[in-house]
Amino acid sequence: MTRNDTRKADDSDEQRTDGSGSAVSEPTTRPDATSDSLLDDSFDVTSGTLSADADPVIETRNLDVFYDGVQALQDVTIGIPENGVTALIGPSGCGKSTFLRCINRMNDLIDAARVEGELRFEGKNVYDDDVDPVALRRKIGMVFQSPNPFPKSIRDNVAFGLEVQDKAGDVDETVHRALERAALLDEVEDQLDSSGLDLSGGQQQRLCIARAIAPDPDVLLMDEPASALDPIATSKIEDLIEDLAEEYTVIIVTHNMQQAARISDKTAVFLTGGELVEFDDTDKIFENPEHDRVEDYITGKFG
Ligand SMILES: Nc1ncnc2c1ncn2[C@@H]1O[C@H](COP(=O)(O)OP(=O)(O)OP(=O)(O)O)[C@@H](O)[C@H]1O
Ligand SMILES: [Mg+2]
Repeated sequence: MTRNDTRKADDSDEQRTDGSGSAVSEPTTRPDATSDSLLDDSFDVTSGTLSADADPVIETRNLDVFYDGVQALQDVTIGIPENGVTALIGPSGCGKSTFLRCINRMNDLIDAARVEGELRFEGKNVYDDDVDPVALRRKIGMVFQSPNPFPKSIRDNVAFGLEVQDKAGDVDETVHRALERAALLDEVEDQLDSSGLDLSGGQQQRLCIARAIAPDPDVLLMDEPASALDPIATSKIEDLIEDLAEEYTVIIVTHNMQQAARISDKTAVFLTGGELVEFDDTDKIFENPEHDRVEDYITGKFG
């Protein structure tokens, strides 16, 4: 990776929900994804469930998730490339949110959830004992379906995580940069001390995106980030996602096929039972999928 790897703080939503608002130290070294890869040369990349791209930033192999013994994800093996947008699609209940929450260990917060198999981020299994989930979530930010600003000022929302630990830069500068990156600065520049809750739904979602990117993560997980928004706000979020994908690896869950087709480079199709049925370039998935079940889902025959 060539990006500046300096991290300042974690202001992500999950930091609040996991009760870990305190400072945590970053892993000091980054494992080499190529030398420590899960995927060896002999792995059959033609199986349709694994990206053939070199050096995926996130790789799973034989990932299973259970909730109290009920299986939600089955044997998921995938390699998600760095940068760009990967869309996760599939019918309700097929495990898309579960998969997303595995990536930054948000499932740790669900007592009933049990994860088996491996999930590697930059070559390191995130379920290893020595991985700090809070530090992981600083590198893998998350945006949820409903905009969820805190009942704080716009500035404090974006700076939320930045204030809980030592930081090198100036908080105000970081806040401005994150708001600008989230395409919100022009609309709120004169009202940074107003409540984040006074913004429109679309603005609130961009505020949440600003909050997620302020600590400068590597990966942005988005679970149906535009589903509660009107078409104009949705279009702004889509433009923003495409823009962010130049710098971040964006993984987005969407029920909107047109949205997946419009904004994603790769698409993973999960089907009922928590099975990853097909993963490929988005054009291929939408124009000529390998599996009839995928074609049926995409053309609206079920789901
Ligand atoms: N906290 C939980 N406790 C128990 N079961 C859960 C929990 N969260 C999800 N599940 C179950 O796991 C399966 C996958 O759920 P998940 O929310 O990941 O699906 P999804 O594809 O995101 O669905 P949707 O499109 O409706 O958001 C479902 O059967 C669901 O009932
Ligand atoms: Mg979901």
